[in-house]
Amino acid sequence: MIRVENVTKVFNPGRPSEYVALRGVSAAVPENKVVVLTGPSGSGKTTLLSLLGCMARPTSGRIHLGEREISSLPERFLAELRRTAFGFIFQSFNLVPGLTTLENVMVPACPLGQPRHQVRDRAAALLEKFRLGGKIGQTVESLSGGEKQRTAIARALINDPPTIIADEPTANLDTALSLEFLEIVGQLRAEGKTFIIASHDAIVHEAQVVDQVISLRDGMVVPAGPHDC
Ligand SMILES: Nc1ncnc2c1ncn2[C@@H]1O[C@H](COP(=O)(O)OP(=O)(O)O)[C@@H](O)[C@H]1O
Ligand SMILES: [Mg+2]
Repeated sequence: MIRVENVTKVFNPGRPSEYVALRGVSAAVPENKVVVLTGPSGSGKTTLLSLLGCMARPTSGRIHLGEREISSLPERFLAELRRTAFGFIFQSFNLVPGLTTLENVMVPACPLGQPRHQVRDRAAALLEKFRLGGKIGQTVESLSGGEKQRTAIARALINDPPTIIADEPTANLDTALSLEFLEIVGQLRAEGKTFIIASHDAIVHEAQVVDQVISLRDGMVVPAGPHDC
């Protein structure tokens, strides 16, 4: 369970550009569920996602990961948590050009200092699982949109994190690929993973695989409704 308790996030505090992106948000993400953060552009989805994924600290309020209060931990603990507790799927995938599909999947495992051959074998097995076994030696530029998406998913799984965080994962995908993404989410949930997905895409919040929708507006949680996307 990941829980945020009355969190606020103020960007550029005290400056003329000060902006309150979250205004006292409380929310909980249970284990092995698919939770979607939705709301209009600028409503605070990415900001809340970055707090839930330990990528940023709240200005006030608390974040609990299981029994642990993490909002006050020093940066090196947060960095460690980020690597082991979370896998990230970024908007437009953020694959590294010039590296092969296999190397891209290996990237998040590098700071953990495991033997390279073990990481390579795990990466190859993940790519095989996502039907990319024949593409491991190709640079990512040569992949199709769907193949890039599956490579990004494989990369998020390389450290076998319990929770996957995805920011607008379907933003650059057509309907068929968006549905394929959601099918993979369903498979991974069946394997025990938790998903937190920020998305203003109706295909995502209407998907059967979604257990819970948290709707944001102007940095606050509002009751979820059909017009909040
Ligand atoms: N680093 C930042 N500095 C200043 N303002 C920011 C920063 N990040 C986000 N914001 C502002 O906070 C608000 C919420 O942003 P964000 O969480 O990215 O919204 P969403 O993902 O729902 O579109 C936006 O108005 C955005 O401009
Ligand atoms: Mg966003």
